[in-house]
Amino acid sequence: MNALEQMNTARALVAGDKGLLAMDESDPTCNQRFAMLGIPQTEEARRAYRELIVTTPNLSECISGAILYDETIRQQKKDGTPFVKAITDAGIIVGIKVDYGAKDMAGHPGEKITEGLDGLRERLIEYAKMGARFAKWRAVFSVGNGVPSRGCIEANAQTLARYAALCQETGLVPIVEPEVLMDGSHSLQRCCEVTVEVLHTVFNELYTQQVTLEGMILKPNMALPGLSCSLQVGVDEVADATVRCLLRSVPAAIAGIAFLSGGQSAELASARLNAMNAAFEMRLPWALSFSFARAIQQPALEIWRGEEANVSAAQKALYHRARCNRFARLGEYKSTMETS
Ligand code: G3H
Repeated sequence: MNALEQMNTARALVAGDKGLLAMDESDPTCNQRFAMLGIPQTEEARRAYRELIVTTPNLSECISGAILYDETIRQQKKDGTPFVKAITDAGIIVGIKVDYGAKDMAGHPGEKITEGLDGLRERLIEYAKMGARFAKWRAVFSVGNGVPSRGCIEANAQTLARYAALCQETGLVPIVEPEVLMDGSHSLQRCCEVTVEVLHTVFNELYTQQVTLEGMILKPNMALPGLSCSLQVGVDEVADATVRCLLRSVPAAIAGIAFLSGGQSAELASARLNAMNAAFEMRLPWALSFSFARAIQQPALEIWRGEEANVSAAQKALYHRARCNRFARLGEYKSTMETS
């Protein structure tokens, strides 16, 4: 894929009213979610669950791209059709999570550094041959006493930028995901300060590593008070704060923004995305889209519970969430859609 094709792919991923479906949980994360619902933690159960997702009828009406995990990109439907073919045939662009996860950072208690740069060039080439056209790398930042530190922010920002440069060399569109975590008692204001500092540092490193902004997508957190903060805020306040942070720190040149959900409830994630698009869409230089995992999948997973008999109902729930987020992109989502 040359630079122009990369930009076209990046634009296609955030075009119109569609968004991304993150189905890129690592095996341990997927097993953890299965365990909470009593679903067997086996490769076959993970495969069956992913088959449920990729065969959901009409998913491409709302989903432009799906992010897979190393295990998933190699799996097939029960009838032998590779998932990559099933997804591509449905008109959805295939992506792949390429980081090896966030590990304890030496010298920085309580902070994480994302690993996976060693051998990344070769892995990206392999994934591109398998049909992937974009990739994703996630860095996480805890908020607390003295954290995130400059050391953690700078190391992760540089790693994100080196990953993004390698993606563009290989022809894959990088999704750059610096996530300020929701855990903690910090205020909305503190989340905003950290988010702006992180984004400034990330874009500085992206510039230093010569990443083409038009050929990348940013996957940020929304600006939210910590989960245990005593002062929780309304949907409009979240929308205002998030847009303010982004306007102050994200260059207009990037192809688009697709939020992670980060553990918000599915309905709140839709409502907050909706509020941003309803109030600000005409004043923003980039599309505000979604790249949710839990906020699209969780209701479906809770219905499926590993039972073949529940597949169709689970697919309806998955489609419903995707559709709600499609409306949220347009600023036309309403809470009544949840019951209609
Ligand atoms: O890296 C995280 C996923 O791509 C997004 O997951 O929407 O559940 O936060 P989430």
